[in-house]
Amino acid sequence: MNKLDIIVLGASGNLAGAKIFPALFALFSQGLLPDEVRFFGFARSELTQDGFRERIMRNLTCRYTPEHSCGDFIEKFLARCKYYSGDYNSPEAFRALASELNADADRVFYLALPPAVFPEVTGSIGSSGMLKNNGRAWIRVVVEKPFGRDRESSDALNRELLKEFPEKQIYRIDHYLGKEMVQNIMVLRFANQIFKPLWNARYIRCVRIDWQENIGIEGRGGYFDRYGIIRDVVQNHLLQLVTLITMDEPESLKADAVRDCKLKVLRDIETVRIDDLILGQYSGYAREPQVAPDSVTPTFVNLRLRIANDEWRDVPFNIRAGKGLSCRKSEIRIVFRTPESNIFCDVAECPPANELIIRIQPDEGIHFNIVSKVPGLKMRFQPKELDLSYKSAFAGTVIPEAYESLLLDVINGEKALFIRSDELEAAWDIFTPLLHYIDENRIKPKIYEFRTDGPDEAYRKECVWENR
Ligand code: NDP
Ligand code: BG6
Repeated sequence: MNKLDIIVLGASGNLAGAKIFPALFALFSQGLLPDEVRFFGFARSELTQDGFRERIMRNLTCRYTPEHSCGDFIEKFLARCKYYSGDYNSPEAFRALASELNADADRVFYLALPPAVFPEVTGSIGSSGMLKNNGRAWIRVVVEKPFGRDRESSDALNRELLKEFPEKQIYRIDHYLGKEMVQNIMVLRFANQIFKPLWNARYIRCVRIDWQENIGIEGRGGYFDRYGIIRDVVQNHLLQLVTLITMDEPESLKADAVRDCKLKVLRDIETVRIDDLILGQYSGYAREPQVAPDSVTPTFVNLRLRIANDEWRDVPFNIRAGKGLSCRKSEIRIVFRTPESNIFCDVAECPPANELIIRIQPDEGIHFNIVSKVPGLKMRFQPKELDLSYKSAFAGTVIPEAYESLLLDVINGEKALFIRSDELEAAWDIFTPLLHYIDENRIKPKIYEFRTDGPDEAYRKECVWENR
């Protein structure tokens, strides 16, 4: 295997500490990285090497190695981590980092930074000479979401990025695509013949995507108050789920075959209408640090997506996403139609609809509500679940973290789970008019109590959409 230098910019931040370094460690401890791999952190915060390693260590766990060798692995990993501090536009700071890199090594630059800093950082990477290695080694850059605030700012960021990196070197990450159950959606749909003929408007009545967190913004006010819940999770993570549920079967698993199919359906999704939207904000949000006291930023949204193609026309995709709700969960519920007539309707009640539930987290699994006869002398029905809970079905198997899977793909040059620029454009087109309307009119979200189910009206409206 080649030599590899991984450079994390924004290394003092939450994402780097909580996700990126632990994922790199997980790959390292399984021997999935080159022998000569090194990890560099860069950010403005002044940290000593020990201070940096101490921060990284806090989040490392040995899920893939026996307990007794854990300490050894951690020590070996930390010995390869080095921190540089400086401004993101400081030529000296970037030259100092550049002088450490190995000319023969492949390079991954990970921009674990707020998107507004991307242009400055990519400019500094370019001017410091870090994009020149021996010519045989590859260079890749990973950029985080949200990529811009709307279509225009996303295009502008893209242009800046393309000044330094050609598209083939760019990996736009959406960590939901690395989650085990999200990767399983294509398997469920295309490896199981049983679903193929049923997967369309003729048999499916509606699809609900429910994304809930029971925490607030956790000190991320400076970021969140500028973005809000639609930009934070809907335009990216949850839209990707809709895409995986509705895309045609690709010709192969090659990156572009998959992404062409995703793009096709993204372009069929209509821009969201203001009537199809309810916004909420948890009570107390405006008192969070770095949040404007009169903030109208939504922490909750309930919206409906409509897809204008033959397969999905008239099937509402109801997305509910919120922070400060009653529990933490992320699931997709496919609700099948009840037949217009049914032999049982004459002799008993009509059977209820089947539902297929894809539970992304926590407790990954697939559940199918199937109508069964309640034992007894009368003909009565009840939906009961066929359960494929990952915990029991794959007991003893470690479920990788999304970032482990995606970072390994970056290193292997595998792009199917990364967002292509035309996909990103189509995703922004769906939301940009709505986001502009909300911003320009300062649409007031409905206030809901923290750790409840969000605004009442959201549920009422959801029922109306589904019953139409
Ligand atoms: P942080 O706010 O923690 O920012 C990361 C680092 O960037 C900070 O430690 C800081 O380092 C630097 N930074 C922050 N604000 C600025 C600024 N205005 N100008 C220059 N530098 C700044 O963000 P996260 O680590 O949480 O996230 C990084 C990126 O990843 C974001 O785009 C986020 O949306 C995305 N993301 C985060 C997830 C998470 O779980 N945290 C999950 C998915 C995506 P210093 O001051 O030392 O330079
Ligand atoms: C991030 C959002 O992209 O995803 C956060 O910025 C959110 O607000 C997080 O909390 C959720 O990720 P996960 O993997 O915990 O569901």
